[in-house]
Amino acid sequence: MSDRGAANRESIALAMTDFLVKRDDLRECRIAESEVAELEPGQALLRVDRFGLTANNVTYAVFGEAMSYWDFFPAEDGWGRVPMWGFAEVEQSEAEGVAPGVRLYGYLPPSSYLVVSPAHADEHGFVDAAAHRAALPSTYQRYTRTDGDPFYRADTEEIQMLLRPLFFTSFLIDDQLDDEGFATRGPIMISSASSKTAIGAAFLLSQRAGVELVGLTSPQNAEFVNGLGIYGRVVTYDRIDSLERGPATFVDVAGDGEVRFAVHSHFGDQLGYSMTVGAAHWEELGAGEGELPGPSPVFFFAPDRVVKRSEDWGGPGLQSQVADAWHPFCEWTGGWLEVVRGQGFEAVQSAYLAALEGRVHPQTAHVLSLR
Ligand SMILES: NC(=O)c1ccc[n+]([C@@H]2O[C@H](COP(=O)([O-])OP(=O)(O)OC[C@H]3O[C@@H](n4cnc5c(N)ncnc54)[C@H](OP(=O)(O)O)[C@@H]3O)[C@@H](O)[C@H]2O)c1
Repeated sequence: MSDRGAANRESIALAMTDFLVKRDDLRECRIAESEVAELEPGQALLRVDRFGLTANNVTYAVFGEAMSYWDFFPAEDGWGRVPMWGFAEVEQSEAEGVAPGVRLYGYLPPSSYLVVSPAHADEHGFVDAAAHRAALPSTYQRYTRTDGDPFYRADTEEIQMLLRPLFFTSFLIDDQLDDEGFATRGPIMISSASSKTAIGAAFLLSQRAGVELVGLTSPQNAEFVNGLGIYGRVVTYDRIDSLERGPATFVDVAGDGEVRFAVHSHFGDQLGYSMTVGAAHWEELGAGEGELPGPSPVFFFAPDRVVKRSEDWGGPGLQSQVADAWHPFCEWTGGWLEVVRGQGFEAVQSAYLAALEGRVHPQTAHVLSLR
């Protein structure tokens, strides 16, 4: 055992706080308190500093079972820890190449601490090789050191934890539509146009020559979406039939069955491509069922596209392209995004329930801490 390890064992037990959600009733939350377990050789203890919370995290809970999101950060039977993106600091380490004090960006539980089993540690960070995460997508396993990260700037940490994972998806949507020739084959309609993921995609697509963007949104968010100035036209969900028929592409971030049905029925076979990105309207997933006219929707899963573009461009090549696109977006968003900060169980619960129930104004987003 190293001297540092011996010192760790003598230290006072650290309090572990977890924000838990009932898996079969996502509106039920509670706090769990325990002691942080002693580190084993090869492990490190991360102190979770802060994390962002948007509809994306709600989708992790909605698809917790189906897409194994509950498996990243196990909890007691029947309960789950909703994964978040945020910053953490290495508090203790028994792992080679991972020193206490290092600040990291990555996939974190809504907890005060996280024990990881670092592998492939270098000056850029490490991956968590814990056995229970081995079968899960690699995109979620990486912890990036802030001191070697092309995305990082200390003064934009809040925007990074809120928007960086979403912008990665936005980048990949823009890239795929361009790559497959859909960017200029008639208008691109994006549902939940007020969501951060849609905004990122629209921000990038709007910079391409010849792209026509239609933002589909709820009546209460139409003014906000219009004000962004990145969609050529904003249409509310109840006015989809006012759109001119012709070749078009659908990027579905809402996942609302009725909206999907309305778009497919209106455009029929002239809809060239229907990309299913999200489920922001998670309680309306099954609505509007019946024979769907037009093309079969294709599920867009960012981690799969990351694998493809990493093969095409190399991992660092992909990261540097996304980072180059990120900085102007980060600057633009900083001009209008209002960050709502909260600390402790009550604040996390209230922000989580507001996101779950779609009560968060799109101009705002939550940055939280359980510490
Ligand atoms: N496939 C992938 O790989 C991938 C990757 C990242 C994100 N996503 C998905 O993209 C979606 C958007 O995530 P985000 O974090 O960008 O969202 P966000 O910014 O938090 O989105 C907020 C917007 O979503 C709609 N909304 C949210 N909750 C709602 C509710 N309960 N009822 C009705 N509308 C609701 C509203 O938009 P409108 O009024 O405009 O409808 C709201 O303004 C999520 O479903 C997420 O999982 C998918």
